[in-house]
Amino acid sequence: MAADTLCQTPWGAVRLLRYPARRDEPLQAWCSADLLLLEALHELAADGAGILAVNDEHGALAVASGARAVWTDSALAAQALARNLTANERAPVAVTWSVDPPPPTSTVVVLRIPKQLPYFEYQLALLAAATAPETMVLAAGMDKHLSPRVAALLEQYIGPTRRHPGQRKARLFSARRDLRVAAAPPADVAYRCAAAGGELRALPAVFSRDRLDGGSRLLLQVLPQLPAADRVIDLACGNGVLGLAALQQGLARQLLFADESAMAIASARANLVRLFPAALANCDFHHGDGLQDCAWGPAGLILCNPPFHLNHTVDAYAGRRLLAQCARHLAPGGTLCLVANRHLDYGAALRRDFSRISKLAGDSRFTVWRACRA
Ligand SMILES: C[S@@+](CC[C@H](N)C(=O)[O-])C[C@H]1O[C@@H](n2cnc3c(N)ncnc32)[C@H](O)[C@@H]1O
Repeated sequence: MAADTLCQTPWGAVRLLRYPARRDEPLQAWCSADLLLLEALHELAADGAGILAVNDEHGALAVASGARAVWTDSALAAQALARNLTANERAPVAVTWSVDPPPPTSTVVVLRIPKQLPYFEYQLALLAAATAPETMVLAAGMDKHLSPRVAALLEQYIGPTRRHPGQRKARLFSARRDLRVAAAPPADVAYRCAAAGGELRALPAVFSRDRLDGGSRLLLQVLPQLPAADRVIDLACGNGVLGLAALQQGLARQLLFADESAMAIASARANLVRLFPAALANCDFHHGDGLQDCAWGPAGLILCNPPFHLNHTVDAYAGRRLLAQCARHLAPGGTLCLVANRHLDYGAALRRDFSRISKLAGDSRFTVWRACRA
C-alpha cells in the first residue's frame, strides 16, 4: 500500500514525497524524529531565517519550518528537498555540503542524528565552531538507531544537554551552545589496500572507511579478468577503492568517480591526488544520483558495489536503479562488473538490461556479476 504523503506539522500540512521513490512508494518521506524536531522548533517560535536544518532526509524539516539553510552530505536528500519545496510552492533553500563548514549565523539548529557516530561527532565539532553562545541545537533520531552516547556527545561538543522523554519510538535532545565547551573532531581513519595502490583515507560519512568491504574485496580478486577500457566508471565509489584499483592495474585511461555522498567524492579525489597525481587530469567526479544528469560519455567498463540499504534495511531497490543507469551509460559491447549481497537477487534486473550475464565469483556473502551491453 502506498504511504501517506500529507505530513501534518505545527505549521500546517505539507505534501512530502521521498526521492527516489517507487510507484506506490510504501515508505513515508518523514518519521517521528522529524515530527519531534518540528514540534520543538515551533515551541521556540524561531524565525525561519535563523534555522539551519542538518541531515534533513527528504526535506520535512526545511519545507515545514521555512529553514534558511540545509547542511547535508547527500545529493539524494538535496533532490528530495528541491522537489518538495517546489511541490509546496516554497522558495529555494541554500544547501551547504557536508565537506564545507555549516553557515555561521543560525540561531537554532535542527539535526537528524546520522547513523555513523564519527560523522555525528564531526558535525557537532563544526557546528560548535559555527554557532554563537546560547544557540539551541535540537537533535533527534528513531530509538532503534540511536547510540547511548548521543547525549554525552552533545554535552562534549555543544554544551548542557537535555534528553527528552521518548515519544512515538523517537527521542529528542536539546543542547545549548556553551563556548567554554570545546572538543576536536574525531581523528581520521584509513586502511591499506595494495590492489588500489596504498593507503585509502576517507571522511567520516563514507561507507566502510576503516576496512575494505567484503564485497569489494571479492570484486578486486576478479579485476584482472576484466577488459581494459578507455573510459571506466567507478559507480557508488565511496573512498574510490575500485576505480583506484582499475588505475593501478592499468585497466582505465579515463575514469569517472560517482557517488551521492559529498564526502565520498571528496575522499575519492583526495586518494587519487595522493596515490596517482599524474592521473588527475584524466579523472572526473560526479556528485549526484548515480549517473543521472551525468554528461560523461559512454564507458567501456563500469565497476559497482551498489548501495544495499533502504531505511536501514537490506533492499535491492537502490541498486536496481543504478543498474538501469549503467545500461544507458555503457558503450555497445561494454562490461558492467557488479558485486552484490548474495541474498539480493540482481539476476532478473541484469537480464532485463544486459546480455551475456555470468557469475565471476562468489562466497558466503557476495556474488560478483559480469554483464555486457549487447
Ligand atoms: C556499498 S557502498 C560502496 C562504496 C565503495 N565502492 C566501496 O566498495 O567501499 C555504496 C555507495 O553507494 C553510494 N550511493 C548510494 N545511493 C547512491 C546513488 N543513488 N547514487 C550514487 N551513489 C549512491 C553510497 O554513498 C556509498 O558510497
